[in-house]
Amino acid sequence: MAEAENLIDLRSDTVTLPTEEMLEAIRNAELGDDVYREDPTVNRLEEMAAKKMGKEAALLVPSGTMANLVSVMSNTNRGDCVILEAESHLYWYEVGGLSVIAGVLPWPIKGDMGALNPKDVEAAIRPKNIYFPETTLVCIENTHNRAGGTIITPAQIEALNKVVKEHGLKLYMDGARIFNAAVALKVDVREFTRHVDNLMFSLSKGLSCPIGSIIVGDSKFIEKARKVRKMLGGGMRQAGIIAAPGIIALEKMIGRLEEDHRNARLLAEGLAKIEGLHVDLRRVQTNIVLVDVSGLGIDAGAFINRLREQGVLALSHSKRMVRMVTHRGIEKEHIEKALTIIEEAVKEIERSN
Ligand SMILES: Cc1ncc(COP(=O)(O)O)c(C=O)c1O
Repeated sequence: MAEAENLIDLRSDTVTLPTEEMLEAIRNAELGDDVYREDPTVNRLEEMAAKKMGKEAALLVPSGTMANLVSVMSNTNRGDCVILEAESHLYWYEVGGLSVIAGVLPWPIKGDMGALNPKDVEAAIRPKNIYFPETTLVCIENTHNRAGGTIITPAQIEALNKVVKEHGLKLYMDGARIFNAAVALKVDVREFTRHVDNLMFSLSKGLSCPIGSIIVGDSKFIEKARKVRKMLGGGMRQAGIIAAPGIIALEKMIGRLEEDHRNARLLAEGLAKIEGLHVDLRRVQTNIVLVDVSGLGIDAGAFINRLREQGVLALSHSKRMVRMVTHRGIEKEHIEKALTIIEEAVKEIERSN
């Protein structure tokens, strides 16, 4: 345990633990059976979430992965074609649920820093023809995880939605970290939600809740999503214990994401100064930092193992890229210490080369 306390854990913002206030709220939450719609705490959180996002209704689900799956299934029919970004979480990290469970054909398109070009999307829409599946949905991710926490701006979403609507399709946003985007651009989150039909966001990442994501959209969509969630086994009973910290997250945890962004910047700029490492600073827009270690002649996995021995935890993004994420519990001093450790590790690697 003592060892764990000394670790600087930059693997993900999902490692955040609930605050004391959240634990207290869990203990005192008013509860009921949410499948019967009788949990007052869940009902309150869902109402709050819908209002905050400027949509009619919301639905609490256990995870971001389930939120994406439920949303795709509620926006499509089996056999439909779904356009998404080639490195999106939905396509990359969700065990192929899209194909296996939703039964849709994913149509991946490479984006620019995570953003889909509307012209590329338009070109990918299958014409109505006996040979083709029907394209019915376009998915975006905001912020874009594998692109480095990059922001898809409200103007980009609006432009994409214009094309999407011209073709009668729906636009869905995996907004797991949408509050990071809103805080970074200092705009109301509704600027980002205005031009999508529906979306999800996570409570369990930078907002520090132990569990949960929320789907938001119009009432009819959420009604369908509620049934799909039940089918997938995600209908929960006294889910107020999950919703209670969610309410605190929406009331109190959004503004502090700015601190995570400042720390990510500090980390990125520090890493960029270390010879042998490369950071694309344009991508460091929120709380994720990607660092290219290929200049050291070792791969990301080996670099991460070196750092782990020195008490810094990071994740592999690809063979050459390491991902580091800032979050509550990581202070400026941790970043400074991590930078010293990383600089030392790089020197040692170069000495042994
Ligand atoms: C962009 C994005 N979408 C969805 C998810 C899935 O969330 P969960 O881990 O709660 O299933 C993640 C998780 O990291 C994510 O980064």
